Amino acid sequence: MLERLDEQSPDALLALIKMHAADPRSDKIDLGVGVYRTDEGGTPVFEAIKRAEQQLVDEQSSKSYLGPEGDMGFVNALMPYIFGEDATMGGRIAGMQTPGGTGAVRLAAALAQKAGMTKLHMGTPSWPNHAQILGDISLEMAPFDHANPDGTANVEAVLAAIRGAGSNDGILLHGCCHNPTGVDYSDEDWAAIGDAIAETGIFPIIDTAYHGLGHGLEEDVAGLRSVLAKVPEAFIAYSCDKNFGMYRDRVGAFYILANGQETLDTAFSNANALARASWSMPPDHGAAAVRLILRDSDLTKVWKDELEQMRNRMRQVRDRLAEAGTQGSVDMVPLGIQNGLFSVLPVSKEQVAQLREDHGIYMAGSGRINIAGLTMGNIDKFIGAIAEVTGS
Ligand code: LMR
Repeated sequence: MLERLDEQSPDALLALIKMHAADPRSDKIDLGVGVYRTDEGGTPVFEAIKRAEQQLVDEQSSKSYLGPEGDMGFVNALMPYIFGEDATMGGRIAGMQTPGGTGAVRLAAALAQKAGMTKLHMGTPSWPNHAQILGDISLEMAPFDHANPDGTANVEAVLAAIRGAGSNDGILLHGCCHNPTGVDYSDEDWAAIGDAIAETGIFPIIDTAYHGLGHGLEEDVAGLRSVLAKVPEAFIAYSCDKNFGMYRDRVGAFYILANGQETLDTAFSNANALARASWSMPPDHGAAAVRLILRDSDLTKVWKDELEQMRNRMRQVRDRLAEAGTQGSVDMVPLGIQNGLFSVLPVSKEQVAQLREDHGIYMAGSGRINIAGLTMGNIDKFIGAIAEVTGS
């Protein structure tokens, strides 16, 4: 039976991790997969997480099952950060823990499909796994251009997609720090998007995987909140993998916004059943550590300070790139106004290969770079290499 299977190529982004590790050059630069790095190039465990983990070791009395919804203390503790002071929007929101943001996106897509969604509109380029997840469950994807060639958001395209959508369609939006472009909607854009969604009834799914890594914890969810305030229903996929540095511990959450208690309860019961059939229960450790942080004001402050340092460092890297102006054929100025871990450089696949082979610079074939892979120690080398490889 197994001979009927077709060979699958490894995930291109994850394959870069191994390629970079195998490169013996000491001045190689990893701009591939989206992990935050310090100016020394490391990805240390957050101090707040270390302390919370110690507390867990000392105090956790059981690792017995919790249920498909996972650690509800974690799920509830996150809610004010995402949804604001009225964290349940008058009892209209319910959530559950998921294995990372990927689990949340997968659950959102599968539940939407179960509820009758037949097509999901999505700005492209997007995180490659979005398309893979939709392909895997055979939910049709309708792409539109997310960004303009000048590095700004293509608001006309998203509004056209919403206005032209059918009655069983949904739209996937990135809450902040768009992956891969770093191009986010302005407050005015979000207001227009929210109005259009409310007018047409298209179902919104908002993927928020980089909360706090753009402009701040409140600022980064202002767009999401403005949409939720206008619509009857929505799904939110949330990741703590980046903003708590929990990558391999897989810490995420999925939230449902519904119009009435009965609809919310029924939708939640379906999400619960899908989670049980998919992974039974999410891994506990990381979510328990996040819960301890968010319930302790001292630890919360330590975490917020660490997040701010990350944000400021990435802003510093972006400023330095923008200052470099045009290098070879690449205009770096737009990177200064983009947000989060990623931006896409207008380079060809051949140029990406040349950057890797001649300069030991590893980036996605799409031209996406992980801003946090650049440090004050390697950024000049990177800028020089871009000038050399893309210059005529
Ligand atoms: C990325 O885009 O690099 C991250 O979200 C990691 C991943 O799982 O792809």
